[in-house]
Amino acid sequence: MSRLRGKTIVLTGASSGIGAVAAQKMAAAGARLCLVARDVEQLQAVQQEIRRAGGQAWVYPADLTIEEQAAACAQAILDEHPRVDVLINNAARSIRRPITEALDRLHDYQRTIQINFIGAVSLTLKLLPRMLEQGGGQVVNISTLSTQVPIPLFSAYLASKSALESFSRSLQAELGHQGLDVTVVHFPMVRTPMSGRTDIYKHMRMMDTEGAANWLVRAVKKRPARIASPLGKVGSVLLAAAPGMATRLPQPLFRLMDWRLKKKFERD
Ligand SMILES: NC(=O)c1ccc[n+]([C@@H]2O[C@H](COP(=O)([O-])OP(=O)(O)OC[C@H]3O[C@@H](n4cnc5c(N)ncnc54)[C@H](OP(=O)(O)O)[C@@H]3O)[C@@H](O)[C@H]2O)c1
Repeated sequence: MSRLRGKTIVLTGASSGIGAVAAQKMAAAGARLCLVARDVEQLQAVQQEIRRAGGQAWVYPADLTIEEQAAACAQAILDEHPRVDVLINNAARSIRRPITEALDRLHDYQRTIQINFIGAVSLTLKLLPRMLEQGGGQVVNISTLSTQVPIPLFSAYLASKSALESFSRSLQAELGHQGLDVTVVHFPMVRTPMSGRTDIYKHMRMMDTEGAANWLVRAVKKRPARIASPLGKVGSVLLAAAPGMATRLPQPLFRLMDWRLKKKFERD
């Protein structure tokens, strides 16, 4: 845990789910946490938990889809902290909808890209100069297993996460030699308010928030280019080598899984 001690970590999406648990774990390991999300009361609750356990945390409420709020949030962090060691772009929204039911819902695509990609990029661009001035830093961008193993029903969400992954590679390629490390984390399904919004997922086996938060702690300690499950790693290789097959293969399995989950849910 020692590699977190004294580090200033900006964590978005810290009011809920994986972010809230990761904030507490990182603060317990001695990191200084800047907590970002919209819900100030939830952020303060996380801050209080951290302080009660003897850790350090500051609250920066912002809607990261609003450029002015993202900029003001970044400025407040820069004004109050001499170093920014790590930025974790974890805030996101997910939409589960078939493309054929989104024909008149361009806003599905706009909303997801606005927080999952533009929100992350806007904070990165504002905090990056400080990281370069201080001789380095780390950006951790949160993605999903489903950009490695193609599944249906999440086109808006997955497109926005793929954009974030591509931006991550550009960041690493351009600024790695100046001490910047970029990590992409491909979470599998995790039991949080986000996954809980799909009622049939109640019976799906998922990672818990503790396990997911441990992945984020590992990301900051080891600074790898990627953290992913074995299935995700195999999926990435297959997708690169045989994209047609890698995209077609999982679909019957996904439909079968969805059908089984629906049946179980209806039996409840
Ligand atoms: N749960 C899963 O199964 C799963 C799987 C793969 C990847 N992931 C990824 O893991 C990360 C964490 O997800 P989670 O499951 O912990 O979700 P969650 O519990 O729904 O948390 C999402 C966080 O994003 C914040 N947020 C949303 N819109 C925002 C906005 N406009 N401005 C600022 N903050 C905003 C929310 O806070 P406020 O509402 O307070 O703003 C909340 O803190 C996400 O990047 C997600 O895509 C999750």
